[in-house]
Amino acid sequence: MPSERYLFPHRHLLGIQPLSPQDITAILDQARAFEEVCERPEIKVVPALRKRLIVNLFFENSTRTRNSFEIAEKRLSAEIINFDADTSSLSKGETLMDTALNLESMRPDLIVMRHAAPGAHALLARHMKASIVNAGDGAHEHPTQALLDAYTLRQRFGRLEGLRIAIVGDIRNSRVVRSNLWLLTKMGAQVTLVGPPTLIPRGLQDTWPEVKLSNDLDAVLPDQDAIMTLRCQFERGTGAYIPSQGEYARFFQLNAERLRRCKPDVAVLHPGPINRGVEITSEVADGPNSVILQQVTHGVPVRMAVLFLLCNPHGEQVP
Ligand code: NCD
Repeated sequence: MPSERYLFPHRHLLGIQPLSPQDITAILDQARAFEEVCERPEIKVVPALRKRLIVNLFFENSTRTRNSFEIAEKRLSAEIINFDADTSSLSKGETLMDTALNLESMRPDLIVMRHAAPGAHALLARHMKASIVNAGDGAHEHPTQALLDAYTLRQRFGRLEGLRIAIVGDIRNSRVVRSNLWLLTKMGAQVTLVGPPTLIPRGLQDTWPEVKLSNDLDAVLPDQDAIMTLRCQFERGTGAYIPSQGEYARFFQLNAERLRRCKPDVAVLHPGPINRGVEITSEVADGPNSVILQQVTHGVPVRMAVLFLLCNPHGEQVP
């Protein structure tokens, strides 16, 4: 729970970059309180956002994130509108800004948006009174994913500081990795990015100088507390950067043999959706070291915490 003097200082959640370690801790602590609500045997609802109107605007595909936000909103008793981009006037050529300003005229309190254009959220935030929450913007940021990853790691290891985490795979196209780089470096974790040279863009160490880079997964594995595998984003052209899926798997797939090189209690993460048999085998994804479904479970209280703190900067005990 945030301390009495602490005030969550943000109106929007555009990314992890603007958050301080204290803000991140406040969200994770608030999520802990909401996890108790989600784990109740019967009524898993609190009135915290009663009468608040939230618009979910998803311009890109989503399974976990969209449902998780919607469940979080329902658990907080908010009123919800789901905007369907396919049946909206966007298909008649309306611009994003016009769509947003028209929605704004209906006075929503919060807009949760996924959009392919990095910067779309910041644009809306500049022009709108509603709080904007980034649910993924192109290859830029996906802040609630990094927060739920951090929540899962903190629950498993009791801390983030000093944890050794390898993030493996399609670094080039992943917004998940960028939000995680901000979060994990701010919280003092030791991050190693692993992948073929073609999937690790130049210049990352200009922004995150403390992060290590490697092309040798087998050498990195034994030291790690957690391995975060990333989806090969074939819809964003990853196929052009690897010789073949089989060749990629030969060097970078997390499989049972590679898991044996790791610490016995290593945590295996993946943001989903999984390309089974490419970046990770089913044996590992469904095995005892995997926390992949726990990540999904934690997405709900973490998103409840974000929505709640944006509307109630003081934080609050859960009734
Ligand atoms: C990710 C996304 O959409 O950015 N998935 C998610 O939100 N859980 C990762 C991905 O698509 O690979």
